[in-house]
Amino acid sequence: MSSSSLTALVSLLLPCLLSLLLLHLANVLDPDPDAATPRVKATPPLPLRFRHDGAFKILQVADMHFGNGAATRCRDVSPDGGGALCSDLNTTRFLRRVIEAEKPDLIAFTGDNIFGASATDAAESLLKAISPAMEYKVPWAAILGNHDQESTMTREELMTFMSLMDYSVSQVNPPGFLVHGFGNYHIGIHGPFGSELINTSLLNLYFLDSGDREVVNEVKTYGWIKESQQAWLRSTSLELQKNLHAPALAFFHIPIPEVRGLWYTGFKGQYQEGVACSTVNSGVLGTLFSMGDVKAVFLGHDHLNDFCGNLSGIWFCYGGGFGYHAYGRPHWPRRARVIYTELKKGQRSWAEVKSIQTWKLLDDEQLSKIDEQVLWRCSTDDSHQNVFSPRQGV
Ligand SMILES: *[C@@H]1O[C@H](CO)[C@@H](O)[C@H](O)[C@H]1NC(C)=O
Ligand SMILES: *[C@@H]1O[C@H](CO)[C@@H](O)[C@H](O)[C@H]1NC(C)=O
Ligand SMILES: *[C@@H]1O[C@H](CO)[C@@H](O)[C@H](O)[C@H]1NC(C)=O
Repeated sequence: MSSSSLTALVSLLLPCLLSLLLLHLANVLDPDPDAATPRVKATPPLPLRFRHDGAFKILQVADMHFGNGAATRCRDVSPDGGGALCSDLNTTRFLRRVIEAEKPDLIAFTGDNIFGASATDAAESLLKAISPAMEYKVPWAAILGNHDQESTMTREELMTFMSLMDYSVSQVNPPGFLVHGFGNYHIGIHGPFGSELINTSLLNLYFLDSGDREVVNEVKTYGWIKESQQAWLRSTSLELQKNLHAPALAFFHIPIPEVRGLWYTGFKGQYQEGVACSTVNSGVLGTLFSMGDVKAVFLGHDHLNDFCGNLSGIWFCYGGGFGYHAYGRPHWPRRARVIYTELKKGQRSWAEVKSIQTWKLLDDEQLSKIDEQVLWRCSTDDSHQNVFSPRQGV
């Protein structure tokens, strides 16, 4: 062996030797044998897919406002709500109940997952808040609200941390794009195992960061979805629709200004407080409308609103407040939204999405199911809207 090839061999082996040394050192310094074992994220089977029965169910959890757990008191509950016994643990109990009752295929946490000002340690609070999803091994995706970063982690740190947690499918930002904020990503739901559409996304989910607070002309207001995010959305949707005109759903925390107008044009559910949106209208409705694939948008932020209303044929639905440390209204139970999608039965196996439905569950004794409605149905006669020509791949 020549000296140059020996040098090459040594330089090749050096990182391995170093890491062996580090491992050895770690064992010497810390006799706990587990300490040297790297922690590996538990990942759900990917890509996410429709179930064998052709359904895919999403649970939306809006505004958990988690603090420190047992020590963090409930807000706005009725006098018989447990008093000092009512805490973040009631939020956890509610999450367990809805997971057991609905057996969702994905949980979407739509921001203000933790209430930063009441969380001594952001990572600890998040771990506790999300724990039922991990416990039940349910894949979950999260975005940020305006309160998550008010503790010990920045928005970027929070999204990074959430992307690394067990069963999370959350992503910080799309690779290859420069977008504003943290938590802008796409998740495709593929056809069931054994179907011809096993490699095709039949339902697309867009998650967006609607920001926290901003100052515009020296006036404080809420955040909004910036042009760079909308550019990413348009281009992602265009790319996906080259493959198949699959319907899509969008999730973000802060409503867009047009949601206010639903007061006059109609809604299903309850509209009990003003829509707390930004003073800036960045044209999100126009972007979604021009994309053509988004059939419904799911929002958080205003806990006393839980309605769905249609703007230009796109449904905008609030989740309704979920968490007990969040503001709410006594005798108006905390609630969660379910989004249920079903595939059409094709000639030989499952075909494209047939319908998108939604309802809510109340944290009362019976876990009451209310306000069921169909948000979208695939119309086979509308050949322009639903061109069915799946290509291989993607
Ligand atoms: C919170 O949980 C406690 C303990 O189980 C219970 O007594 C109380 O009624 C709950 N409060 C609410 C508002 O659900
Ligand atoms: C799906 O993709 C896999 C891996 O690329 C391939 O082996 C399989 O034949 C594809 N199945 C269908 C139904 O397209
Ligand atoms: C949405 O509302 C418009 C008119 O405001 C109506 O023409 C359209 O049919 C509605 N779309 C759905 C899906 O309800």
